[in-house]
Amino acid sequence: MADPTTEPDGPDRSVVAVGADEVERAAEAALRPKRLADFVGQRVVREQLELVLSAAKHRGSAPDHVLLSGPPGLGKTTLAMIIAGEVDGSLRLTSGPAITHAGDLAAILSSVEEDDVLFIDEIHRLARPAEEMLYLAMEDFRIDVVVGKGPGATSIPLTLPRFTVVGATTRAGLLPAPLRDRFGFTAHLEHYTPDELRQVLTRSAQLLGIPLSDDASAELASRSRGTPRIANRLLRRVQDYAQVRGTGVADLAATRAALAIFEVDMLGLDRLDRAVLNAICTRFGGGPVGLTTLAVSVGEEPETVETVAEPFLVREGLLVRTPRGRAATPLAYEHLGLEPPAEGALFV
Ligand SMILES: Nc1ncnc2c1ncn2[C@@H]1O[C@H](COP(=O)(O)OP(=O)(O)O)[C@@H](O)[C@H]1O
Ligand SMILES: [Mg+2]
Repeated sequence: MADPTTEPDGPDRSVVAVGADEVERAAEAALRPKRLADFVGQRVVREQLELVLSAAKHRGSAPDHVLLSGPPGLGKTTLAMIIAGEVDGSLRLTSGPAITHAGDLAAILSSVEEDDVLFIDEIHRLARPAEEMLYLAMEDFRIDVVVGKGPGATSIPLTLPRFTVVGATTRAGLLPAPLRDRFGFTAHLEHYTPDELRQVLTRSAQLLGIPLSDDASAELASRSRGTPRIANRLLRRVQDYAQVRGTGVADLAATRAALAIFEVDMLGLDRLDRAVLNAICTRFGGGPVGLTTLAVSVGEEPETVETVAEPFLVREGLLVRTPRGRAATPLAYEHLGLEPPAEGALFV
């Protein structure tokens, strides 16, 4: 289990000034499982992926293109890296928003080598012309590179080696059908059960070198919204607390105290989740209210509300999506300690 190359040394205090995001990313990377065997949960996806990868290995060819979809923090990037580790080629990383012109993609594709894995994060945000170039590259392993401008422009066909595209998206529904169809294997990641989250936490606590008690791990799991990224993040905050104000052990007392400080409630809702529910209940009479209006009222992007807050609120039965917008359930009022509107006044 203990692979020295994955041993993190914790967030480096000296780089905090560089940017909290940077530290967050480094801490996250340190906790990423490197092999499929260490990837907790997602039994179905793991088995399917195992099959796809070993079949490709058996045939001695690059695996089919893989699309990973699901809410943030469930392991899409981790799986992409695991896939790259399983094939002989190297991993190239890019993302939909980073490719603003077809030329950007052409540059990447023309340097791809046999068996490489090209990971395209947030693939639903690719620009249209790049998308079209990608179809061709994925299907026929060729692209047309346009040289020059205007009437004098010529297009030069370029043949590509066999490589594998791994796309990740939080919004599979936004992918145009032709692009979606080019993926030979699509995996949808589901939220994790509390038991699975406890396995993630146990593994992470070992890597971080913080003793984690059973009741603390259960408490953390139940407040992590089915999401390993959140579980790991909360664990690091509990570690901070335990080391600075506690006994150095992530026990139940340290866990509760840390989660209180970071405003994570009993269900695991954070400030944004509660703001969304609060807005629907108090400003829009329980809804339905359109996504954009709702997002503006909590000062967030619609995409953030939709992909970060909503899936969990829906899953917990606090919010429903209706054709006319988002509505709060009686449970939402109860959770916020608000008086629900009179019987029948709620949309749901
Ligand atoms: N199945 C899993 N087992 C163990 N750790 C996981 C698992 N899925 C995600 N994680 C951890 O959660 C964090 C976020 O995962 P990531 O792959 O970046 O999510 P995504 O790309 O879907 O947003 C990483 O630190 C990763 O190690
Ligand atoms: Mg990711």
